[in-house]
Amino acid sequence: MAPVLLSLLWVGLAVSQATPLKVVKTGNTPNGFSNAPRGWNSFGLQANPSINPSFKFDQEHVTEQADALVANLPSSIFDTGDYYISLDSGWSVGANGDEYGRIVYDSSIFNISTLASYLHSKNLKLGVYILPGAFCNDGDKMIYGTNIPINATFSGNNDGFARCDFDFSKDGVQQWHDSVVGLFAVWGVDLIKLDYVTPGSPDNGGHLPANNSGSVIAYHNAIKGFGGAMRLDISWKLERNSTYLDIWEANADSMRTDQDINNSGSSSFVAWKTVQRAIENYRDFISGVVAASDQPTLTIHPDLDNLYVGNNQSITGVSDSMRETIATHWIGAGANLISGSDMTKLDALGIRLLSAPNALNVAQFTAQYPMQPRNPGTGQNKSQQLQAWIAGPSDNGTAVVVLANYGPDQGQGGFGTTYSGPQGVKVSWADLGIQGSYHISNVWTGADLGVFNSSFNATLDEGESQLLMLTPVNT
Ligand SMILES: *[C@@H]1O[C@H](CO)[C@@H](O)[C@H](O)[C@H]1NC(C)=O
Ligand SMILES: *[C@@H]1O[C@H](CO)[C@@H](O)[C@H](O)[C@H]1NC(C)=O
Ligand SMILES: *[C@@H]1O[C@H](CO)[C@@H](O)[C@H](O)[C@H]1NC(C)=O
Ligand SMILES: *[C@@H]1O[C@H](CO)[C@@H](O)[C@H](O)[C@H]1NC(C)=O
Ligand SMILES: *[C@@H]1O[C@H](CO)[C@@H](O)[C@H](O)[C@H]1NC(C)=O
Ligand SMILES: *[C@@H]1O[C@H](CO)[C@@H](O)[C@H](O)[C@H]1NC(C)=O
Ligand SMILES: *[C@@H]1O[C@H](CO)[C@@H](O)[C@H](O)[C@H]1NC(C)=O
Ligand SMILES: *[C@@H]1O[C@H](CO)[C@@H](O)[C@H](O)[C@H]1NC(C)=O
Ligand SMILES: *[C@@H]1O[C@H](CO)[C@@H](O)[C@H](O)[C@H]1NC(C)=O
Ligand SMILES: *[C@@H]1O[C@H](CO)[C@@H](O)[C@H](O)[C@H]1NC(C)=O
Repeated sequence: MAPVLLSLLWVGLAVSQATPLKVVKTGNTPNGFSNAPRGWNSFGLQANPSINPSFKFDQEHVTEQADALVANLPSSIFDTGDYYISLDSGWSVGANGDEYGRIVYDSSIFNISTLASYLHSKNLKLGVYILPGAFCNDGDKMIYGTNIPINATFSGNNDGFARCDFDFSKDGVQQWHDSVVGLFAVWGVDLIKLDYVTPGSPDNGGHLPANNSGSVIAYHNAIKGFGGAMRLDISWKLERNSTYLDIWEANADSMRTDQDINNSGSSSFVAWKTVQRAIENYRDFISGVVAASDQPTLTIHPDLDNLYVGNNQSITGVSDSMRETIATHWIGAGANLISGSDMTKLDALGIRLLSAPNALNVAQFTAQYPMQPRNPGTGQNKSQQLQAWIAGPSDNGTAVVVLANYGPDQGQGGFGTTYSGPQGVKVSWADLGIQGSYHISNVWTGADLGVFNSSFNATLDEGESQLLMLTPVNT
């Protein structure tokens, strides 16, 4: 009798640890978007030139990537208007701006106006990359529409990347940001990736000010003033305590939750240990959001960095089931779905991971209901190698569940265990914080798995996961 009693007690204890589920809801973002951006960003190919030696960071080759994206993915997906071609660092002149100190494109490699027009004609949008601050070299120039020299708005800090930082209390700072956004609007820019935002961004050899969050506020105000649709995506590994999360949520549309995910100078895009770190950072981020309120809400999408799932194992750097797991987690998080893969070398799995209608429907759902961790067996939110997540349920009871085996911790996964080989992962409704019967389907395979009344389990190999759609069964 004793062993049975003990195990019953243990089960009772385990269930009682599961706190009630607090569904996280994401509303419209500050610049008016209800979805996370999708598309392509150039950084992976820039950081790993040996993957595609014929790629140069210029108009011709970016256009080639955009054309390949459009040619390879079903045209209907672009109707949402959420697909961006996002240029990373290197498109602009690096040490000075125009006569008003506004950033200008390097016309030896880009004509941003013609690129924007071309992308718009393909139902795509254009993103550009910038840093906070104005060029120190432009100090004597007058801010557009004013007689304020740019010098007069500086704080005295040179950030080490040719920019001087602003003193956000000075007259002229907002006008300078307005002038830059005004110029971007004339060119046809649709998204600004603002990197090196602090607190949070690592220095990376520069000399960042402790707090340039004022640049996020100023760009948001400029976008609002111009009145058009422009996204503000801020980077990297931002401070996410309540003080600063409030600022990001009030001004930006998406925010990086981790450092770069790409390999550097390698013949593949990404390493599994970095993916483990990125997922762990999202777990930490969303757990903080859940803990902060009885009715947790967000008005910003997480950015887990580029989605490297489009190319085969030798180019991507991880196995096919790991590629699916990456797509599942980026989608589950309601995160930016901007791929860094080589669009000219997509394989059949890559095309499916970037465009399967079922999965894009789930992405639409998680953009409103981002997933949170609920540990199998306890419903806690700890880092675990064998993990479960739930997004929703929405008001009609629909939920998305993810089960995963991240494989042995390669150093930055946060969970520290090293179970090898296939593992059974079982999650009860009590763990997930739901009740009743659900029809469950596997989102990637499309398989209808049947009706489940109290738990679900799967056997998952290292790096494998399942993305599940749960539809309530009316009894
Ligand atoms: C960019 O293209 C536009 C439209 O063709 C043209 O008016 C403009 O002069 C070009 N810009 C540069 C810097 O060449
Ligand atoms: C303004 O900045 C320019 C360019 O760095 C510099 O040469 C000049 O001395 C500065 N002027 C003042 C008044 O600080
Ligand atoms: C950080 O910058 C923001 C925006 O300029 C400002 O509101 C806030 O007070 C600053 N925080 C600190 C601690 O200086
Ligand atoms: C939030 O983060 C900033 C910068 O990292 C730090 O100075 C501040 O003390 C933190 N505030 C809270 C409430 O933890
Ligand atoms: C991504 O690439 C950049 C630029 O080469 C590099 O600094 C960074 O360390 C890379 N990230 C990883 C995880 O290797
Ligand atoms: C991966 O894709 C590249 C580019 O399409 C191709 O050259 C290579 O043979 C593929 N490798 C495998 C193992 O399929
Ligand atoms: C989840 O995480 C947060 C913050 O990391 C923590 O404060 C909270 O107690 C955790 N909740 C549960 C149910 O484990
Ligand atoms: C349930 O709600 C979700 C989220 O609002 C929505 O995407 C889905 O279509 C709804 N399902 C039904 C059957 O109404
Ligand atoms: C859940 O309950 C329904 C109705 O009683 C039954 O048909 C189904 O087989 C049950 N599912 C499982 C996995 O036991
Ligand atoms: C689910 O668990 C049961 C009982 O523990 C086991 O027999 C079954 O194989 C598991 N199913 C999967 C898909 O792992």
